[in-house]
Parts: sequence; structure tokens; C-alpha cells
Amino acid sequence: MSLIEVRQITKRFAGTVALQDVSLEITAGELHAIVGENGAGKSTLMKILSGVITEYDGELRLRDEPVRFTSTRNAEAAGISIIHQELNLVEQLSVAANIFLGRERRGAFGLLDESSARQEAAELFWQLGCRLDPDQRVGELRVGDQQLVEIAKALSKRAGILIMDEPTSALTETETERLFEIIGRLRADGVTILYISHKMDEIFRLADRITVLRDGRHVRTLRRDEATPREVTHLLVGREIEETSFDQPRQPGDVVLSVENLSLPWPGHARPWRLKDVSFALRRGEVLGIAGLMGAGRTELLECLFGASEIPPQGRIVLDGQPVSFSHPEESVGAGMALVTEDRKRLGLFSHLTVRDNITVCTLEEACSLGLISGQRERTSSNESIERLGVKTAGGEAAITSLSGGNQQKCVIARWLRTQPKVLLLDDPTRGVDVGAKAELYKLIDSLCRDGLGLIVTSSELPELITLCDRILVLCEGRLTGEFRRGEFTEQRIMEAATARG
Ligand SMILES: Nc1ncnc2c1ncn2[C@@H]1O[C@H](COP(=O)(O)OP(=O)(O)OP(=O)(O)O)[C@@H](O)[C@H]1O
Ligand SMILES: [Mg+2]
Repeated sequence: MSLIEVRQITKRFAGTVALQDVSLEITAGELHAIVGENGAGKSTLMKILSGVITEYDGELRLRDEPVRFTSTRNAEAAGISIIHQELNLVEQLSVAANIFLGRERRGAFGLLDESSARQEAAELFWQLGCRLDPDQRVGELRVGDQQLVEIAKALSKRAGILIMDEPTSALTETETERLFEIIGRLRADGVTILYISHKMDEIFRLADRITVLRDGRHVRTLRRDEATPREVTHLLVGREIEETSFDQPRQPGDVVLSVENLSLPWPGHARPWRLKDVSFALRRGEVLGIAGLMGAGRTELLECLFGASEIPPQGRIVLDGQPVSFSHPEESVGAGMALVTEDRKRLGLFSHLTVRDNITVCTLEEACSLGLISGQRERTSSNESIERLGVKTAGGEAAITSLSGGNQQKCVIARWLRTQPKVLLLDDPTRGVDVGAKAELYKLIDSLCRDGLGLIVTSSELPELITLCDRILVLCEGRLTGEFRRGEFTEQRIMEAATARG
């Protein structure tokens, strides 16, 4: 008997059909992967199953009974909980408060029992094998840690059916391994898991069955042991995608950015420096990768270069022959730097604006003549960007929040490319981007590089850096612990340097 049955579900949003007549059965105890390109309808389906979206056509059955959830709480009562793709945390509250939000522990006399919440949170993190402080404000955490809070929150509900919408997109390899162990334990306890991911290796490692969605339709459900990654990729994009390889040598030019002894203090911490004595040079026409575990200082390094660190860094930065010291991103953008941040929801997107405005927001001058914004010019140029990056949207007028996660990311990249930077900093740019779009972004990065742009890229996926980069620097606890050229780098060598302790 199937545990969950999705019967002919259709979901329309203004301008888009997100799901079209989708039918699907989930067996009790299985790990069922849902795959599809950005915008295929994966998250929408999961939101229906978890009571986030309540308006739709079709029927949902749980243990052979028709159900219609009216809220997430309603779905949780039926044993279904979800770890969202775009994190749903309250930044002002502590880690523990977020985990038990809406289910506050009360002791005698109905008083809030904070210490038991704190203790339970600490236990959850212990289970997860990570050290997060339950008292820390969520807003102070990096995305990867915030994702762990989401995971702890879902675990704390002890759901029999757990939906994970791209749970590893912001986790490092080690954290991902830890999550897989937890998944193993949950499965041993009989938990049914619906798992969304763009990473084929994960899917083939974890799933019992795989459902492919394309353009809101159910394409096929396959058993993992009868499928191959190539076949699944083919089903989900509906065409062959070429293996991207950039082995054709690039010709880096002169040095565009040099960094000498860059250090970033970390007051009040046992380790007094977030970054210590980092030196390197970047050439025009070069893709330089920064590898390292979470907390190694990758994001901090990019923020320092961009003038976006909370405390000014020490050391010397020379951009295009000029010593610079940026105290605000406005200055660095003016000087030819651009940064695509890892955390698009918090820093990268203007969620109340349209797709077009999100793309053109940094380059409005270009669309201005005599101080008037030319709507026409703005339209034409944003349409070019939409087309060039293959952004899937009903049009430039659509709200940015109506786009799927990966498509939102493409808009952020499009925006920065339009500023025509000398150096482009990309902090985990393909997080949550589907395989097809990833291949397009890789090609884009390669062609920008061949046009003479200097690029610095971080990624939570090592194979990505290995595909893209001419050179990879490795950070460990804020220090450079390795440098490898193309041809020299392997995952093994990079991981060794990343755990080397300088
Ligand atoms: N609130 C909304 N309003 C309007 N359109 C929406 C809304 N939510 C989703 N859509 C549209 O529905 C379609 C499916 O989106 P969904 O988020 O389910 O995709 P996805 O498969 O999860 O993609 P991704 O891999 O990028 O996360 C997309 O075209 C999206 O633009
Ligand atoms: Mg999604």
C-alpha cells in the first residue's frame, strides 16, 4: 500500500502552471528522490504535501484516506514535516527559539521553559554531530549553519514523513556526510523521506526510487537500481547535455588583483584572526578557485576584497595597479569589483521588486538619458540578460519571488555581469542551480574569463572548482594551506590541504 498518493494535482500561479496533472505514489519507508530542472515544480509539490500551499486541484491521500491540509501545523499533526529550500528562520531569535517556535516548552505555572528548549536543542545538535550554540542569534550564523538549524527543527518534530528540499545545497562535504548518516538512522527508524536535490551522486547514493518532473509534469518514476545518472539527467532536461570540460588551455594575462598579507581580526574569539596573512595574485583571464571547509574563511576573503567585511582587513590590496582600501561595496563596485553572494535571499535579492528591476538595479545609469530612466532601454537590456542566462520566467514584469530558486540565482549573476567588472567574485554561485543551468553557467564563466575578466570562485562542491579553475587556493582556519595548478589538483589533495591546520 502506498503511504502517500498524489492524484492528478494541478497548481496554477498567475502566469504559470507549476504542476500539471501530477500523480505519484510514495511507499512507506522509502527514500524517494524528486528531481527536475529549476522551475520544474519540485518545491511546489512539496509545499502542497506539507500544507504550505493549500489551494490546488486534485487529491492527496494519506494511508488511503483523502486529506487536505489547511496549514503546516495541520500537516505536522499528520506526521509530515519539511525542511525548506529557502530557509524559514527568524533571524532575531536564538537557535533554540527557532527550533521550538510555535511549540514553546512551558513548565510549571505555564512559564516559558527556556532551559529545557536549550537542552533539547543541544541534544539535537549532538545527534547531528555538530557544535552549534543554542543561544546564538540565527541572524549571526552563516547559511550552512542556518541550514543545520532547519534540519534540527524538522527532526525535533519527530515526523514519520520528512521532506528535504535541497538540504545539502549549503553544506560542506563533511556536513553532508553527517547528514547522510542521520538520514541512515532516520531510515532505520522507519521514516519515509522525500528528497530533492540537483546532485546526481547524492541521489544515486541515497534513493530507492527517483521521480523526474519536467515543466510541471510527471515524466517518470524509476527504481534506482534500474536507472543510470545519465538516463535520469536526460529525462529531466529532455535533451543530451554535453559534458563540460575546459581543458583547452586559457591564456591568463597580466595581474589584475594582488593581495599581500591580508588579515582579518576576529575579536573575542579563541582564534584571533578570521584570515591571517593571505597573499596571492589574480590574472586577467584566469579563474581562481578558493577551497576550504565551512568556516575556513572563503566568504570572509571575498567580503574583504569587496569592502563588505564588518571590520576592515589589514594588509595590501592592489586592483589594476592601484592600491585600494574599500570601506564600502559602493567604492569597490565603482572600482570594478562585483560580488555574487552565497546567500541570495538575505543579501542578493530585492524580494519586493520584479525580475527586471533585480537585473538592472546596479546599472540604472545605463538606462538613463537626461536623468530619465528609459523604460524601453531597461526592458531591452534586461530581456537580453534573461535570454543569455536562460532565466525561466513569465517575463521581466514577474515578481522575483515567483521564480524558482535557481532562476533567482541567475538573475543575481546577470545583474553583476551588467556592471562590466574587472574582477568578478562568485561565492558558491551554482548553489541550488540545476544540472542544465549549471553547465550553462560554467560556459558563461569560461567565456567571461576568455574575454579577459579575472574571476574568483568558491564552491561547496569540489568537482565544480576542479572543472572550472585554472588554479585553486586552499584555506584552512583562515590561512592559506595549499595552492594547486590545473593538472595538479585532485579532490584528495585539496581535502588534505583543507584539513591541514596551518
Ligand atoms: N508563489 C509563486 N507565485 C508565482 N509563481 C510561482 C510561485 N511559486 C512557484 N512559482 C512558479 O512555479 C514554477 C515551479 O516552481 P518551483 O519552485 O516548484 O520549482 P522547483 O522545481 O522547486 O525549482 P528549483 O530547482 O529552482 O528550486 C516556477 O515556474 C515558478 O516560477
Ligand atoms: Mg525548489
